[in-house]
Amino acid sequence: MKTAFITGVTAGIGEACARLFVGDGWRVIGTGRRTERLQKLHDELGANFTPIELDMRDRARVVETAQDLPAIDLLINNAGYATAAVPLHEAELDPIIGMIETNVIGLVALTRTLLPNLIGTKGAIIDLSSVAATYPYRGGCNYAGTKAYVHQFTLGLRCDLQGTGVRVTSIEPGMVETEFTVVRNGGDQAASDAFYGGVDPMTAQDIANTIHWVATLPPHLNINVLELMPVNQSWGGFAIHRRE
Ligand SMILES: NC(=O)c1ccc[n+]([C@@H]2O[C@H](COP(=O)([O-])OP(=O)(O)OC[C@H]3O[C@@H](n4cnc5c(N)ncnc54)[C@H](OP(=O)(O)O)[C@@H]3O)[C@@H](O)[C@H]2O)c1
Repeated sequence: MKTAFITGVTAGIGEACARLFVGDGWRVIGTGRRTERLQKLHDELGANFTPIELDMRDRARVVETAQDLPAIDLLINNAGYATAAVPLHEAELDPIIGMIETNVIGLVALTRTLLPNLIGTKGAIIDLSSVAATYPYRGGCNYAGTKAYVHQFTLGLRCDLQGTGVRVTSIEPGMVETEFTVVRNGGDQAASDAFYGGVDPMTAQDIANTIHWVATLPPHLNINVLELMPVNQSWGGFAIHRRE
């Protein structure tokens, strides 16, 4: 039985991945901060799901957790979020630092600590980046910066892992309707509903299916980067300010 370690299984993409992989006969070890949701998922998925309460900002605990794991065949670096989409000169600093600690520092600490384990199993790493890594938008510089880090980290890691048999992939979605935009707007469900309204956005299940496909390809095949969007999302072109 193969084992996946998935961060952020208490909602959205991570939760859909936990269900899909357990349903496909994998053992899943899943993390998140909300213990009641971890417990609920455990009740639903049973013995092949092991919940671990873990805040990705707590670097010592991230390292300790990764050191204690059994053989891991697949690491899905999914936990992450975006702070409010406001220009940096209007934004508060502390939430931005917390986001960087989660999306980048926690991810690096976890991956670094788990690498000997993953090299031992000739496993795979799937990182959740975003279209924000490539296409800038107003109010997104720090979130985009974290996801650009994840993109480049993933490509560089492929070079480091050359010859080990470990596969590394960056998944880069556009709009996926999860709790992402509720979190981004400080818990405002109506703002999230308005954002996704009429778009037919991608679902967490769409991304989980893609991740599962990548993870179950033949071991000689590496998907480097996979970018995906809903059909109704594309790009807006350059914004130009004209003086009076
Ligand atoms: N939704 C999109 O449109 C979209 C697009 C591109 C990329 N992504 C990326 O996809 C990943 C998953 O997002 P999602 O859309 O599924 O969002 P979501 O529904 O809000 O789920 C986010 C998950 O990350 C966990 N998490 C957040 N901060 C954490 C922390 N400090 N420590 C531990 N766990 C933490 C949350 O768990 P707890 O709150 O319980 O800790 C939750 O399980 C993220 O990396 C996101 O940036 C999303």
